[in-house]
Amino acid sequence: MRPSTERPGGGRQVTIVEVGPRDGLQNEKRLVSTGQKLKLIAMLADCGFARIEATAFVSPKWVPQMADHDAVMRGAARRPGLVLSALVPNEQGARAAIAAGAQELAVFTSASETFSRRNTNCTIEEGLARFVPVIALAAEHGLPVRGYVSCAVDCPYEGPMQPGAAAKVVARLRDLGCAEIAVADTIGKATPDRVHAMVLAVLEEAEAERLAGHFHDTGGLALANVDAAWDLGLRVFDSSVGGLGGCPYAPGAAGNLRSGALVGHFASKGIETGIDQALLASLEDTLEATVFSEQ
Ligand code: HMG
Ligand code: MG
Repeated sequence: MRPSTERPGGGRQVTIVEVGPRDGLQNEKRLVSTGQKLKLIAMLADCGFARIEATAFVSPKWVPQMADHDAVMRGAARRPGLVLSALVPNEQGARAAIAAGAQELAVFTSASETFSRRNTNCTIEEGLARFVPVIALAAEHGLPVRGYVSCAVDCPYEGPMQPGAAAKVVARLRDLGCAEIAVADTIGKATPDRVHAMVLAVLEEAEAERLAGHFHDTGGLALANVDAAWDLGLRVFDSSVGGLGGCPYAPGAAGNLRSGALVGHFASKGIETGIDQALLASLEDTLEATVFSEQ
């Protein structure tokens, strides 16, 4: 069977992928229990997110906060129209994620060789080879696969990246069968003009309908970077509740783009996200109490 080319979350003017439970919590220094994570996912589902990246089936030695991936995926709230995805680096992760009920898989590599080694202990080429059995397994189960390209604009180790570096990796993920490819500003250093140049190069390899934007907000320009990508046709963007997050292997990467800010940004332009803004605002206002204090 070919991998599913169906992208989840369609039908809205823009789809926001909530990555807080994974990208947000993976870098959290405080202990977050499985119960707290499940509560957070249920509250996000109540807000109306159609796609939530629930956890990562990565090595617990590399990312201890994701060690309870199995219990999180098995226990996470299910809702009609909601797709729960899992980040996986290899076949071992994919098998476990599917067994636990993941409805979408996300593989991840980088435009930067150094970041690939630091984050996944392998070259870009070796990482891509690991995705072949992941995508085959997903296809067997009819699941879509997202591919991330980290450091699409800047790398914490190599500095500014040429737009062609991201485009080259996007072409490889396209050929492997990823239904969606997310270009990521991992350390939140990008500017709209550089995002524009990167996305233009990437569009040579994959149509806008297949792309997503994942912008961290370290430099406070994530919304402007979303606009730069939107202007070139992208309609899927990632954000994290409360702006939680960062990558443990990317020094300098602060929080992700805050979901409330992204939803509000689109609402101010009259663009329908399908998210209950008031409910999300109340969740973000009480995040500390509801999620980080055990009750
Ligand atoms: P390695 O040490 O080279 O792997 O790590 P290995 O194959 O030699 O295995 C070592 C141990 O890990 C073994 O266990 C394996 O069983 C275990 P041991 O025998 O020592 O007890 N292992 C696993 N355990 C659970 N799940 C798995 C798995 N695979 C192996 N799937 C590896 C290689 C890729 C596994 C490791 O480097 C890793 O897990 N890296 C993940 C790093 C990570 O999660 N980073 C953050 C997410 S990426 C990100 O945030 C960027 C993104 O948001 C976009 C952006 O902003 O740029 C997506
Ligand atoms: Mg990220």
